[in-house]
Amino acid sequence: MKKISIFASGSGSNAENIINHFKNSQEIMVNSVVCNVADAFVLERAKRLNVHSYVITKSELNDPDKVLKMLKELETDYIVLAGFLLLMPNNIVTAFPERIINIHPALLPAYGGKGMYGMKVHKAVIDAGEKVSGITIHFVDEKYDNGKIILQKRCDVTATDTPESLAEKVHILEYEYYPIAIEKVILNT
Ligand code: GAR
Repeated sequence: MKKISIFASGSGSNAENIINHFKNSQEIMVNSVVCNVADAFVLERAKRLNVHSYVITKSELNDPDKVLKMLKELETDYIVLAGFLLLMPNNIVTAFPERIINIHPALLPAYGGKGMYGMKVHKAVIDAGEKVSGITIHFVDEKYDNGKIILQKRCDVTATDTPESLAEKVHILEYEYYPIAIEKVILNT
């Protein structure tokens, strides 16, 4: 059984979708949700779905041993980021080579990087007058939104789209493709 720790900072709708996707799997399970925001809604979701959750501070994330020790104890094989705001520190990236996966709500390399998170991304896409946006699923390296791309999917941006309506379109793509992409990566390695 391969084990996933989901790292999230916010609502956690992707986390919930991923947990549900693997709930009856014989090969992959979500063993934990790790969150850096003490009142994030993802923690409610984890509780309701009977998945252990852990709240960590930014300094605990950047401690050379703390989070790695926890992941070792949990026997985590893969880390999946689902709306996680903080940069993954080098020690964790090095310990999980091509075993940390992120989803970004735009077509990287455009609209990525530090501070490009959630609604800010959709607002930037609309403000730039883009006709197309989408999702990027990629491996995580030591820079924001920079690692090898696993999958991209597109959606149209229309003249009447708002950041909120674009977020909805992007979420639909995320729910459809993220769990399958995670599954493919894990079962092929
Ligand atoms: C998702 O759209 C995800 O792609 C995005 O945050 C949202 C979290 O929603 N991630 C980033 O922007 C990473 N740079 P959720 O909490 O409902 O899953």
